Amino acid sequence: MRWTVSRTAVADTAGDLLVFPVFQKDDEADLKPLQTATRGLAGGGPALASTIRKGGFSGKAESLFPVPCEGVKAGWILVAGLGKSEETGLETIRKVAGLAAKRARSMKAARVLVRVPGPKALGFDDRAFARCWVEGGEMALTPIGELKTGGGKKPVFPRQVKFLADGPRGKALREGATEAEAYAAGCHFARHLVNLPPNILTPKEMATRARRMARTEGLTCKVLNVTQMKKLNMGGILGVGQGSRQEPRLIDLQYKAQGTAGRKAPHVTLVGKGITFDSGGISLKPGAGMDLMKSDMGGGAAVLGAAVIAARLKLPVNLRVIVPTAENMPDGLAGKPADVITMASGKTVEVRYTDAEGRLILADALWYAGRDKPDYIIDAATLTGACVIALGSHFAGLMSNSGTLIDALKQAGGETFARVWHLPLVDEHRKEVEGTWSDLKNLGKGREGGALTAAAFLAHFVDDETPWAHLDIAGPAYTQAAGATGPKGGTGFGARLMARTVQILVS
Ligand code: BES
Ligand code: MN
Ligand code: ZN
Repeated sequence: MRWTVSRTAVADTAGDLLVFPVFQKDDEADLKPLQTATRGLAGGGPALASTIRKGGFSGKAESLFPVPCEGVKAGWILVAGLGKSEETGLETIRKVAGLAAKRARSMKAARVLVRVPGPKALGFDDRAFARCWVEGGEMALTPIGELKTGGGKKPVFPRQVKFLADGPRGKALREGATEAEAYAAGCHFARHLVNLPPNILTPKEMATRARRMARTEGLTCKVLNVTQMKKLNMGGILGVGQGSRQEPRLIDLQYKAQGTAGRKAPHVTLVGKGITFDSGGISLKPGAGMDLMKSDMGGGAAVLGAAVIAARLKLPVNLRVIVPTAENMPDGLAGKPADVITMASGKTVEVRYTDAEGRLILADALWYAGRDKPDYIIDAATLTGACVIALGSHFAGLMSNSGTLIDALKQAGGETFARVWHLPLVDEHRKEVEGTWSDLKNLGKGREGGALTAAAFLAHFVDDETPWAHLDIAGPAYTQAAGATGPKGGTGFGARLMARTVQILVS
């Protein structure tokens, strides 16, 4: 979609659909602004307001009411409820924008106009409004189904959206829209990777796509193959990958802040789990629902999406993005329970359970990430079913050794609505993954505190001095139901969250 701003009058601007957001006041829609904008026009004014009210529209958040209006050039008005202004948050705007975008699509409206609410009614500025509206609209219309025959050739509705607001508000609206377009692009990129089937998105293909993205966005990209990983003794990534005919890879991407300030900019490294399919390996998963394990590269997708955002916004950060990628399969050469492997860090690990593979590939990647002593490391991984049981699908588990990162991620989570919940990272859990036959084992005590022992395992591969946060995104990375801000499938969870966190860390 193309997003522009215009100061032309609401009723006189050409288009196919006019979206008119409306607040709720005393349990009724506050239709005064709409009445004013359409006063004296055929089918407008008080008569229009009365039609809308009689139709049952109360301005409730996320409610929509399409109504034709002869005197308005666009012909149709889509009244969109924002709810009570004191309760209207950033996420309300995203959701309403998403629902409006979807309705515009089903109405086949190519040119959409959006009347920006008066500045006093909103609890935040125009920049934030545009930022959320554009983000919500773009995210809602994330393309899916490109593998259906003819799927890619359908015309796009809407093609362009024009914000209508008077003169001085244009600049802030444009800035917000531009920022949101970068955020949405990163989210789309991540969602698309997650949605790709595992026969197409193999580890090698994930690397190819990361490389292609790096070229378009102006980043440098290095991909380590099996030989190169052998030289680094990456027993974790190689051990997980050895049960598959698809070779593992390590993607290593870099974005450098520009100018002289760039050299002094903080160095943030993001690490994402890139298991393109998790069958469980020899500790095979049950068949039901195994298809969902195509999303086990959701963390890798999210960190690559965050790189897209950082690059497009030219953030003043030196960003490194590392994705260990492998397929967890049970063939004749696959790792077995009781195998002892040597990790890149030199530590030995007993593989108690081949389905606890994420921590093995991340351990090598975290060690690799720590080599150039970044200021911060954040990893994202669809790591444990235990985290899904604990927190459900609206929160990522957050485990960290750094108050600064915990605060930044909580703030970013609130702003992006990719929410995180802080969970403990303690020595008791670090001890629980110590081994009998080896330094460590990849399983804690049974299922107890599974998300916590997984994080504690990772902690053994991070320097205590380096501020590090681990995000367990197993719950929110994938959804079975379409929502206001996105279709079913990959949610892109983590891309916007981590990009925003980086912005906070460098500000
Ligand atoms: N990829 C899974 C975790 C997962 C579960 C992601 C549900 C998304 C939805 C991970 O590799 C895994 O299998 N974890 C095991 C760990 C356990 C054996 C310690 C799990 O959670 O059962
Ligand atoms: Mn697994
Ligand atoms: Zn997994």
